[in-house]
Amino acid sequence: MNLRIPEQIIRNTEKIFHSSLRKQSTIVKPPSEVRQVLKLWDKAAEPVDPKTLDFPNLGFKHRAVPHWALTILSKDLGDKWVGPEKMAWDEKVIDIHNTNPYGVHGFEGTKCYRDAKGNVNLFRPDENWKRFNSTLSFTGVNTPLPKDLFIDGLKMVARENPDHVPPHKVGSGYMQIKFIDPTPFLGVDTSGDCLVSTMITPAGHYFPNGLEPVHMVLSDNLRALQGTGSNKVAGNYAPTILQKRNLLSRLNDQGIHDVRDLLYTSVETTNAPVLARNITEFRAGNLIAVYIENGIPTLVSPESDEVLPGITRNSLLELAMYKGWNVSRDKLTVQDLLEADEVMATGTAVVTTPVGKLTYRDDNGKFKTAVFNNNEVGSIAKELYDSLIDIQTGGPDPFGWRLPI
Ligand code: COI
Repeated sequence: MNLRIPEQIIRNTEKIFHSSLRKQSTIVKPPSEVRQVLKLWDKAAEPVDPKTLDFPNLGFKHRAVPHWALTILSKDLGDKWVGPEKMAWDEKVIDIHNTNPYGVHGFEGTKCYRDAKGNVNLFRPDENWKRFNSTLSFTGVNTPLPKDLFIDGLKMVARENPDHVPPHKVGSGYMQIKFIDPTPFLGVDTSGDCLVSTMITPAGHYFPNGLEPVHMVLSDNLRALQGTGSNKVAGNYAPTILQKRNLLSRLNDQGIHDVRDLLYTSVETTNAPVLARNITEFRAGNLIAVYIENGIPTLVSPESDEVLPGITRNSLLELAMYKGWNVSRDKLTVQDLLEADEVMATGTAVVTTPVGKLTYRDDNGKFKTAVFNNNEVGSIAKELYDSLIDIQTGGPDPFGWRLPI
């Protein structure tokens, strides 16, 4: 790898090197490139000054903040969870040297929002807690994290980084709760110890333009089997990174440059003709298809152990039922999808994003593009988006979904 070390670091390193040479007669080696890069990374991890944040244009990227929270499962304490402990941004707990290499690693994503009075609320954190414990247990960590510790961690990072939580209706505080087994290990097993980091970062839209239709592509790759898809294990996401890069590069060669995400189909229908395959979900969210008959919408969203039980998706379906619309958690083939009046991607990060176009390869390997709702924001997607955001940001909350920090 060709690493470029900034001039300033090289000069500082030389200064230290020469002054130590003057002081001592022994030869002191300058820091290696590895150590210089570690210093750069330390610098990059410094919290962002909230005064420099352009809240309406945050986009979706990680920015460091002053505090995070650490919660620990310890076998030395008799399989007990302890914490959360408030941690400063530069307090390091784990390194590559001390981790289980078998992917005992997963995460949750949730958001907090300011209401009109400036108070901060979490959104259905108990649902994240349930799914977090499901993922933990799926990876072999069999002591569940108590609910109060999980929620206290979320409250702690929201309270301790107040200036990094965006204003009312201008973005949100995106919160990620990650776990990892912090033990160097040779056998394929868990160690009985676990670290959980809870962090917050100011966030805007996942897709660049918020509530605007996006172009998606159907993937030929398989994604999840035997529960990998319905748990938030890291291994449900890592393989999709290269898959996306490869497919987008093939589409680029076809002159298609605006595709945002991949849609997957079920491992059970791999060998079926493309149009007969069962849809599962996007890389970064669930799918809801809308069919409107005699003015009444029916929302269909696939559900199986290849599909993440999305908290945003479930909330939208509950909202739809509350509005008197029909809801079905049923199988959906690619052909069914092409007949939908509206299609949406849903998730914590993507909220409700209308899908305007879907590119897929037919059985002869030719790319085709279907258009939904004239590539415009549909009335159902818009109504669901507005209703959900209204609850999250302090409007009437008929389901009791908000929790003040
Ligand atoms: C989320 O929506 O919060 C997720 O975890 C999906 C991630 C790929 C951004």
